[in-house]
Formats: sequence, structure tokens, C-alpha cells
Amino acid sequence: MKKQWIGMALTIMITMTAGAQVGDTEREEFVDSLIQRMTLEEKIGQLTLFTSDWASTGPTLREGYKQDIQSGKCGNIFNAHTAAYNRKLQQMAVEETRLGIPLLFGYDIIHGYKTIFPIPLAEACSWDLGLIEKSARLSAREAAAGGLNWTFNPMVDITYDPRWGRIAEGSGEDPYYSSKVAAAKVKGYQGKKLEDPLTLAACMKHFAAYGAAEAGRDYNTVDMSERRLREIYLPPFKASIDAGVATVMTAFNELNGIPATGNKFLFREILREEWNFKGMVVTDYTSIEEMVNHGYAQDEKHAGELALNAGIDMDMQSAAFYNYLAKSLEEGKVTMSDINSSVKNVLMLKYDLGLFDDPYKYIDETREENIILSQEMKDHALESAMQSIVLLKNEKFNGSELLPINTNTGKTIAVIGPLADNQTDMLGTWHAAGVDSEVVTLMKGLRKKFPNAQFNYAFGGGFEGNDQSGFMEAIEVAKQSDLVIMALGENYRQNGEAASRSNIDLPGPQKELIKEIYQTGKPVISLVMAGRPLTIGWMDENIPAIVYAWHLGTRAGDAIAEVLSGDYNPSGKLVCTFPRNTGQIPIYYNHKNTGRPFDADNKYTTRYLDIPNEPLYPFGYGLSYTSFEYDDLELDKEEITFGEKLQVSVKVTNTGNRRGEEVVQLYVRDLVGSVTRPVKELKGFKKISLDPSETKHVMFSLTPDDLRFYAKDMNYVAEPGDFKVFAGGNAIEVLEADFKLVE
Ligand code: BGC
Repeated sequence: MKKQWIGMALTIMITMTAGAQVGDTEREEFVDSLIQRMTLEEKIGQLTLFTSDWASTGPTLREGYKQDIQSGKCGNIFNAHTAAYNRKLQQMAVEETRLGIPLLFGYDIIHGYKTIFPIPLAEACSWDLGLIEKSARLSAREAAAGGLNWTFNPMVDITYDPRWGRIAEGSGEDPYYSSKVAAAKVKGYQGKKLEDPLTLAACMKHFAAYGAAEAGRDYNTVDMSERRLREIYLPPFKASIDAGVATVMTAFNELNGIPATGNKFLFREILREEWNFKGMVVTDYTSIEEMVNHGYAQDEKHAGELALNAGIDMDMQSAAFYNYLAKSLEEGKVTMSDINSSVKNVLMLKYDLGLFDDPYKYIDETREENIILSQEMKDHALESAMQSIVLLKNEKFNGSELLPINTNTGKTIAVIGPLADNQTDMLGTWHAAGVDSEVVTLMKGLRKKFPNAQFNYAFGGGFEGNDQSGFMEAIEVAKQSDLVIMALGENYRQNGEAASRSNIDLPGPQKELIKEIYQTGKPVISLVMAGRPLTIGWMDENIPAIVYAWHLGTRAGDAIAEVLSGDYNPSGKLVCTFPRNTGQIPIYYNHKNTGRPFDADNKYTTRYLDIPNEPLYPFGYGLSYTSFEYDDLELDKEEITFGEKLQVSVKVTNTGNRRGEEVVQLYVRDLVGSVTRPVKELKGFKKISLDPSETKHVMFSLTPDDLRFYAKDMNYVAEPGDFKVFAGGNAIEVLEADFKLVE
């Protein structure tokens, strides 16, 4: 039977003509006729996704799940990988079930499969969309060689809250920039055609507004206006759809009283009707059954009904569809037509991936051997890691420059901290099957880059508690050295899912450790490796050089050494605002002006008594070993009409003495609106490279479309009036000019 099906699919694929319409009809006919032959149980099987388990030897499967695959009751598996293992599972589905429908294999390929690239928040700081797309393309290639065909990425959740551990997985706080990143990732993972065996189906997540969890506590309640939802949180999802994303994942949170997984407004109205999304929707993990805890569903059966009726296709791990959907149908709580349409969305995806043509096309031991951890992967891991690093501060110490460090230095260098000689934590959160033994540690990277230096290593202190027993050794090591490099930050479990922190200082005894080392009077360079902005105000006040190195993946140590030596001139710029303390959160550059904007001479303005309003480091901020000067912000017109374009140009000069890259940012402000508008909104950026003394005129164009927002009546329009345009190297230090939009 199964051979017939696959044979039939093959014929259809071969005879498929290039025209999208004809192809579309044929794939629909194929899938529709398959659905007609399916039993209800087989249909529900296609709507079910179960996880593989883990053992030290690799992925394993619960006995019950095996039987479910063999009987067609589970049509999709996640967390199973490697060609050999997935081949076994695929054989069960294809050879042992009545219809031979192949399995989808999903996995969280978030920033790599076995070769690990920087965490997404870090890589976003590169502002290099080509680089980001390439990371996605290469991760897909590696994962697709390991038996996978579907990644649960990109995660496109905007957040204003660094307490929320999942800030590490996204691209920061700005809807415009995050939309560009989201589209680049979708294109990277999916390539030109899903059926290409070197690509994966992407999954944008978590729909929607998960990053707005109250108090930054994971899974917490979200309540916001529709305007804020549409202007800030939804654009990266829309951009993913426009880029052709194949699947969507729901979110754990409730939105305005309705859990996302049962939210018709999100899935039926916005996703399907407004945005015309034709792909497949999967739940986030057990979020169907969690609707019972939310107090929205009476029991799991009811929860399943709410989900299916809201437009959800596939149940990840809850087994709510698996256990109860047949009963719900019998009772008339769900319709066969909704079940069929969900099954169709799943089967269409399998068809588009080419699985009916060849169920084993993503399972190839030779590719696995050649691609995984190959030199090309590792080279890109280095390139991406270098571009992710953000230089936050670089001042002289006793009149001499600390950074960059000459590669011929013969100095004695102390390297102190829990991340100095650490492989696993360099991989960061969600590192899939990342291989820690492949990670280049900081110590290793430094030793290679500075062969004449003498290195003294001390652990110093860990990530939890307040054990200071390593301090003495660290202080001794510092005293015996000419220079100290501190390697501080979070371990990989201190950010990511279920890793919210109410206090985002350096964790454990590290805050004390750096103070003790500072007391030695030695010159100190501080490296911070973390999955979120940490509150490093003391460090900023006292330590002359600070490099924010996030969790950079497989080539972390090499990348940091390149930056410390100046062989790579740092170019990263922050994509999230760094608060001074947690009391400033939520903090973001595109805030409103308020009726009492900050005025240093007036107490009754929007401010704190104890700290300034400004962040520690603003959005878009990052230094280089050279310096850039901005002049002559010019507009080609003083006013534009609705049919016109405004040309903006700004002169940027490299005023230092080495070549460097700069991310030139363009912001606008709509001064008066039918609803109030943010003080700045990013509308464009360009990463340019300049030789010493070189000047470039960087050009941007703005159209009335770029000025649209959800006006008072919720229409998405640009309103005539006065605008400001700003250009600069971060959201605060900018040049400004004025223009008008006229009818
Ligand atoms: C996370 C998702 C992830 C899923 C599968 C959930 O807990 O929220 O982002 O894709 O697990 O691993």
C-alpha cells in the first residue's frame, strides 16, 4: 500500500509543471485524495507531535511512541536526530503503517545543530543580515544532514525586559530591525525551495506577545492594547510570513485574557484571514493542556476543542488531540471539516518538503559525515562570533591603551573567572546537539593569538551562591601579572526558557570578585559573556575596558582573541537597551515623550529620584577601535507629498587610524499624531566599512509608507504633519533635521 502511495506521489512530482498554479492544484489533489483515504485515527495521528527522549548514547523513544508511529497514531517526532536514528523511525512510519505517510522531524535548531553559532541576541548585534541569513542556511544544512527537516525557529518575540531569560533567543527590542532579521532567518533556513534536502522548514514563534510577560517572568500574563500588539510585537511575525515561513508556533502566555493557543483572534482573524497564512500551526509544547491551568478550559478535552477551533493544526506533546479529538468530534464540539483542514496543512508541508517523493531525503549518512562540524561551518562560526561582540567601553589606564593588545606582547596576563576555561557555557541556551568538546575556550583562543604572552589562569568564583574560596588564588594571580582579563557572566542555564532573573547583576560571587581584583590596582579588561544585558553599572564606572561577548558558540575563544588583538576591529551594536538597574525595566529607546518629559531642573517631570533616566548603554550603541564622525545630515526636500520619496544623506568619516565598520542608523519622529508617537523609531540602517580618513555619504530613502502607524481609528496610515529625522551611531547620539508630510 505504502509503495503505491509513494509511487503515486513520485509520478505527480515528476509531472508537476513549473507554474505555481498547476503545481498547487496537483499538490492539493494529491493531499486531498490522501485525506479521503485516511481514518479518523490516522488523521489525528498527523495532528500529533511527540518528543523523543534522551539517553547518554543519543535520542531514544518511549516504547509507547514506537507503537504509535507504527499504528499511524503519531505522525511527527521532535528531538530525534542523527541520520541513523531517524532512518529507523522513518522506516516505521513508511514501511509499517497502512498509508506509509512519512514523519516530520522537528528540533530546536536555534543557533546551530552541532556547530554552534552565537546566541540569536548576540548575532543580531552584528546588524549584518547576510551573515544572519548564512548562519540559518548553514545550520539548516547541518541539521538536515542529521535527519531533520523542521526547525522551531526563528523566535521573533520582541521584548523590553532583560529579566526575561528568553531575550537571548530573539533579536532585541525593535520591531523594524527584528523584522529584517526574522525574514533573513526564514530565507536562510528554507532556501529557495523547501524540497531542497539542504534546507529545513522554519517555524516562527511564539505567536504572540510572549516577550511581554509581566515582570519578565517566563510564561506570565500578557495584557496590552491592540495598537501596541500590532505596532511592536506583530511586525516580525508578519515579516516572517512575507518571507514565506512554512509553520507557526503558538505561545504559552495568555493575551488579554485568552491563552494564545486557544486564541481565535490571533490565529483565525490575524494569521489566517488578515495575513492569509496557508501553512501549518503547531502548539508550543503542552500549551493545549495548560489552558486548564489558565482557567480557560475545563479539562484537556475541552482544551483540545478550544485549540482546534482557534485554528491550531498540530498538538505538540499534550496528547489532547490524540486522546480526545475523536470524542469531541462525536459530540459535535469540533467539525470534520476543521480536522481535515488541519490535516491538509500538515500533509501539504510534508509534500512541500518532498517527503512523499523520498521520505529519506533528509537522512543521509554521507552528507552527515561531510557537513557536520566541517571547516566551512567552523569558519562561519568564527565570522559570526566576531561580528556579534560589542565593545562597550575602551578607556586608557594610567595614560596607556589597554585594547587592542598587541599580538606580540610578552606580558604576563591573568585570565580570571568562571568563563575563562569553559566550553559548555560558551554554547549558550538552546544549543541543540552542540558539541562542547569542539568549543574553543577563551584560554585556548588567547594562547593561540598571543604566543609570546604568559597566561595565568584562576577560576575565581562560580555562578551561584557566594563561595569566595577561589578569590585568594585569583588575587595572587592578578598581582603576579601585568594585565588582567576577567571572564565573567552567566552560565548557559541562567538565560533562555524558564530562566528569568529578578536581579540581573553578575550572578554568584562574581560581582565581588571583580571588585577584589580591581583593588589590586592592576589594569583590568572585563569580558562579559551572558545571554541578556546584565546590570554592570559598577563595572562601567570602574573598569576601563569592557567587551560584551555574549555566548558565542563553537569558536567563542578565537573570536574574542581576534577582537582583543584588534585583528578584528569590533563592530557590534546593541539591539536592546542596557538598564542601569532592574528598577528601570521596561526600558527601550522608542518610548513616548509623556506630558512631562525629563527636565533636569524640574522635579515634576518623568524621572527617578535615585538614578538618571538614560540607560547604561542605549539601543544601537557599540564602539570600535577607530572613531566615526557624523556630519551634514541633509534632506533633498523640506516636504514630501504622499506620492513622493525623501532622500536622506549623512556624511560619516573614519576619524581614527584603523579601518572599521559602522552601523549607521536612521530614526524618525512623528511630532503630532491622532495618537501619540514614540520619540524615535528606527527606519533604516546601513553597515559600512571605512578606511582611516575615508568619508562616505550614506543615503537612505523614506516614503510615506515608512511613516505609517495605527492611527486613532486603528487604520494603518501616515498622517500629514511635521517629522524629525535622525541619523547617528546609536539611538541617543544623533544629528537631526526636519521635514513635513503634506496632502
Ligand atoms: C519552547 C519552544 C520550543 C519547544 C520545543 C518549548 O518549551 O517554548 O520554544 O520550540 O519547547 O522544544
